[in-house]
Amino acid sequence: MDLEFVRKQFPALDKEFVFMDNAGGSQVLSRVANKITDYLINSNVQLGASYKVSVEAGEKLINATDMVADYINASDSREVVIGPSSTMLFRILSISLSHQWKEGDEVIVSNSDHEANVSCWTDLEDKGIVIKIWKINPQTFEFEIEDLKALFSDRTNLVAMVHTSNVLGTINPIEEICSIVHKAGALFCVDGVAYAPHRLVDVQKWNVDFYVFSWYKVYGPHLAVMFGKLHLLQNMKGINHYFIKDDDVPYKFQPGNYNFELTYSLTGITDYLNAFYEHHYPDYPLKNNREKYQKCFELISIHEEKLSAVLLSYLNTNSKIRVIGKTDADYKKRVPTISFVHQDLKSSDIVLQVDKFNIGIRFGDFYAKKLIGDLDLNDKDGVVRVSLAHYNSLDEVNDLIKALKSILVD
Ligand SMILES: Cc1ncc(COP(=O)(O)O)c(C=O)c1O
Repeated sequence: MDLEFVRKQFPALDKEFVFMDNAGGSQVLSRVANKITDYLINSNVQLGASYKVSVEAGEKLINATDMVADYINASDSREVVIGPSSTMLFRILSISLSHQWKEGDEVIVSNSDHEANVSCWTDLEDKGIVIKIWKINPQTFEFEIEDLKALFSDRTNLVAMVHTSNVLGTINPIEEICSIVHKAGALFCVDGVAYAPHRLVDVQKWNVDFYVFSWYKVYGPHLAVMFGKLHLLQNMKGINHYFIKDDDVPYKFQPGNYNFELTYSLTGITDYLNAFYEHHYPDYPLKNNREKYQKCFELISIHEEKLSAVLLSYLNTNSKIRVIGKTDADYKKRVPTISFVHQDLKSSDIVLQVDKFNIGIRFGDFYAKKLIGDLDLNDKDGVVRVSLAHYNSLDEVNDLIKALKSILVD
């Protein structure tokens, strides 16, 4: 991967600052910022009118949502629900879906999720929905399928889980889990927020029922998307006005509409991936966009694995450090979101000292409240999290290691 080419696409990276809090929010592509400006200057009218500018603005947004559908491999652009944040989209989903549920019906949530895909379900206890929790093995940080199977009953309506934990960085085998969930007669709702910045999303391959992620972690603006299988969305009650028809999908889940300039700007992300592909494979012109994106993410994964390997090899050799997650860098198993704790120091002490080196990392529970509680890490102020993106360099990782070495004596 040509890192110089990549870094040039992100104007914020010109600063003398190392961004390693990317799972909190990535830097934005200049293409995305330019598209926001373009929409506001050239297309900022009410949609649905008969005049030219309104028609053109409408077309821009149809193209953008079609692009999103293709990007995530949805079979129909009506399966794409746009919303302000993943938290809000999960909430809309839980409100809409639970209209069909009865007291005593059950939902399984995981203990390694961000609360976005937990609270929206656990709050349904007020309506008599029974919540069960699938917990990771605290030694291996892995989910065990047998534990999930033991939680199923004939009242299980839905399993909610994270594709990649924003603390552990582990990639959960959601395709396999999805088929088990379906065999048990339940729906599967996946949080892809910490996965989508690193790998290509493929909702049809995985066969998930709902999949949600946030564009501000995928080099875009503060906006999120929910995929839902069309028949499920059509059969659910929406949250829009009473006169919005049931088959008006996705509008019935987008009250007050979605943000137009930000939605349009998402095409800047796919423009980037197309340019990335052409730059790296000038002699292999592919026609299919998703095949190109897949090639891009392969290069991205390999680069990320190199970064992870260097950081993990330092963390693994310091006897006072415990990595909270997988200790090997294999890109098939993890993304470069790497958390650790120190035997003697609080996570906050470490991060506040790293701040002085102009390197942005972070401590805390990252709203993975159940995980940090179950691992007994609240007294440590949570974990230190270093979350890398493909635009980080090996030099930056080595600078971080130098900073950590000066703070943490083995
Ligand atoms: C794994 C995960 N899920 C959900 C969210 C919530 O996303 P949003 O801020 O778009 O609501 C986050 C945010 O950090 C996250 O890391």
